[in-house]
Amino acid sequence: MNRDAIAALKSRLRLPVMAGPMFIASTADLVIAQCRAGIIGSMPALNPRSTAALDEDIARIAETVQDAPYAINLVAHSSNSRLEADLEIVLKYKVPIVVLALAANGDLVRELQANGSLVFQDVIKDRHARKCAELGVDGIIAVGSGAGGHTGNISPFALMQEVREWWDGLLLLSGCIATGRAVLAAEVLGADLAYIGSPFLASTEANTQPGFKQMIVDGTAADIITSNGFTGVDANFLIPSLRENGLDPANLPKRTGGTINIDGGGDNAKAWKEIWSAGQGIGAVKSSGPAEDYIDWLAADYARARHAMGIA
Ligand SMILES: Cc1cc2nc3c(=O)[nH]c(=O)nc-3n(C[C@H](O)[C@H](O)[C@H](O)COP(=O)(O)O)c2cc1C
Repeated sequence: MNRDAIAALKSRLRLPVMAGPMFIASTADLVIAQCRAGIIGSMPALNPRSTAALDEDIARIAETVQDAPYAINLVAHSSNSRLEADLEIVLKYKVPIVVLALAANGDLVRELQANGSLVFQDVIKDRHARKCAELGVDGIIAVGSGAGGHTGNISPFALMQEVREWWDGLLLLSGCIATGRAVLAAEVLGADLAYIGSPFLASTEANTQPGFKQMIVDGTAADIITSNGFTGVDANFLIPSLRENGLDPANLPKRTGGTINIDGGGDNAKAWKEIWSAGQGIGAVKSSGPAEDYIDWLAADYARARHAMGIA
């Protein structure tokens, strides 16, 4: 995407923010609420329990949000048995933005783009970002340390400095962004859009248990621990949920290699469902309620931050 196209995308938003898709938690209702409130809404294709349910959900989202951009996250990995069928649905509705996770390939990127979608890919290091640029993606999501879900472990300052040096296209920053001030800070670091996940876990529309929502409201960065023991790659988890499941945060299982188990199935069926993931930014989340209320507050806080910095 060139700078004009990026400006055109941003002009359709109330805030320079995209919601990060969250396994189990993001629902079609959440996507609709996010889009209606003026940010880019998103959800993983795997959240509806079948491809037919995904079809129904996207039909409802597309009809309700009309021209507002929304995103669907596809796990482009051989372990995802629904990939081909879900891809058909994404192509059928010409989903405006597709966020690819894992093992993206150039053919898939080109197929989606030829069908009218923008393709974004998340990365945790500059080397991955360069690979994505070679594949021809439209947007790169830089996931810094402290992010919810599968996290990066590089400071957002370092990651943004390295990627922005050579990438002039659409760049999103992910990890711990929860206030309007932080959205502005992401822009100052060179991001076009801030990418926000964990605060939406406390939204009414999120498919999260009441105890999960409360942990987000009560929690701070000190309640988050990074472990690769559940999925094979580093992810951030809520320490109170580990304890509730009888696990000792100081002695978590460790993996030294092997296959990535993205949905925590098999031995680790509890990961994501009962052992809850969130990022270090949750200290800024003070209440649970409709996503619209949080986005309204975010917009007001962003305006305050701009004013405080003397930006019109
Ligand atoms: C519970 C949870 C589940 C997630 N699941 C996914 C997922 O299925 N696909 C994906 O691309 N990112 C996933 N993420 C990452 C988010 O999209 C986003 O990058 C991240 O939440 C941003 O960091 P933050 O939570 O600190 O705002 C997940 C994050 C959380 C907290």
